[in-house]
Amino acid sequence: PVLRKEAEEVPMDYPDLKQLVANMFETMYNADGVGLAAPQVGLSLRLLVIDADVMGDDFPECKGFKRAMINPVFLEKSEEEVSMEEGCLSLPGVHEKVGNKIRVKYLDEDLKEHEETVEGFAARVVQHECEHLEGHVFIDNISGIRRQLNKSKLNSIIKGTARCSYKAKAVGK
Ligand code: NI
Repeated sequence: PVLRKEAEEVPMDYPDLKQLVANMFETMYNADGVGLAAPQVGLSLRLLVIDADVMGDDFPECKGFKRAMINPVFLEKSEEEVSMEEGCLSLPGVHEKVGNKIRVKYLDEDLKEHEETVEGFAARVVQHECEHLEGHVFIDNISGIRRQLNKSKLNSIIKGTARCSYKAKAVGK
């Protein structure tokens, strides 16, 4: 249910914020992910971590792209005709193609404000994680037909019978 809920703003006096950010990076690396949003670890907070450096060979914009984003806000969002694979640690084994470019404002783990334009695959990762903060998952954006094709995988995730290489908790029975 936390994945489907709009996440709360992170209060400026949130205790042990840096430790939480460090833990989220560790959890993400452990699952070989390039991004992780707080709702994916059961916390309804507007906080996400990204390290897309591993994609750097295929997508140069991802080289060194490591960020913690607290209370991120989109200033601009432009859809592009780029096509790239998208997946989610909360939906193991399900991948779809999408792409775009964004301008985002956020606080880092030191609560320092940043504003930057992010493009290509890195933009897609930021947007993917931000969608988690709105209670959306990426399959919400795809057509009914594509969703139908992933239906059995999605059902097995809900039932908890889907296999993946990291610890995951099923939402269903
Ligand atoms: Ni995800």
